[in-house]
Amino acid sequence: MSTGRLFGKVAMVTGGGAGIGRAVSLRFAAEGATVVVCDIDDDRGEETVRMARAVTDTVFATHLDVSGETSWGTALDTVLQSHGRVDVLVNNAGLAYRRPLADSPLAEWRDLMAVNAGGTFLGLKHVTTAMARTGGGAIVNVASAAALIGVPGMTTYSAAKGAVRAMSRVAAMEFAADGVRVNSVYPTSVRTGMVVSDARDTGVSVEEFLDAAGALSPLGGIAEPEDVADAVLFLASDEARFVTGAELVVDGGATAGVA
Ligand SMILES: NC(=O)c1ccc[n+]([C@@H]2O[C@H](COP(=O)([O-])OP(=O)(O)OC[C@H]3O[C@@H](n4cnc5c(N)ncnc54)[C@H](O)[C@@H]3O)[C@@H](O)[C@H]2O)c1
Repeated sequence: MSTGRLFGKVAMVTGGGAGIGRAVSLRFAAEGATVVVCDIDDDRGEETVRMARAVTDTVFATHLDVSGETSWGTALDTVLQSHGRVDVLVNNAGLAYRRPLADSPLAEWRDLMAVNAGGTFLGLKHVTTAMARTGGGAIVNVASAAALIGVPGMTTYSAAKGAVRAMSRVAAMEFAADGVRVNSVYPTSVRTGMVVSDARDTGVSVEEFLDAAGALSPLGGIAEPEDVADAVLFLASDEARFVTGAELVVDGGATAGVA
């Protein structure tokens, strides 16, 4: 259902070619935004555009490797030349590995930190500057409940998401005077391709993984990508005009306490 909550806004969504990023892109498009789907996988990005075209022609795809500063410069130039401004950025692209700390290769740490933390760092660095020039905007960083609680096997991932959490607060402080709001969301397991790799790394079937993940939530089950997209939409919209530096947990109550 569209209520035009992002009418007239230009939004970049990283990792918009799948999972949560795709759900965010489609939700934003339905709410009237011009959406630029930014993904390292061009085929996936174009697939999101095709899906959106069923309801709107204001969705476009551009190549972006969030871990590369040159790639950010090129993608942002493309967006500014085509659309003149960026009002919303969703730093969503991410990878996940589950591995006991003692077995974790340093190369994996570097790889994951470069995408999950470095990608958010670069997005904040480049896009806040562009937003400040046009009077402000809203940034939503997709972190994870793994930044809030200890999840065995997720040292590297948790460290990267902890960095996203810290950066979100600092950026909220640094850019408030420019009218740029920066908030972050914290899902537990969400039904995307990442769950499949999580199950593989844990050594269980996807069904077993989903059962175990769902049992952690007092509300029962796991989140759908659209549940996260709705939370992101609120923070990106003008309804959150007075909200910055906030942390929105989307976890069915899993981290609220012991049921
Ligand atoms: N699925 C979950 O259970 C879950 C839970 C909490 C947080 N998250 C976070 O949500 C975000 C999205 O996860 P998802 O489950 O939708 O993942 P996904 O694997 O379904 O999709 C990730 C997308 O990011 C893209 N991507 C990967 N590396 C990239 C790069 N370097 N540059 C640009 N794009 C890149 C991929 O091509 C893909 O389209 C991630 O930051 C993830 O850590 C996911």
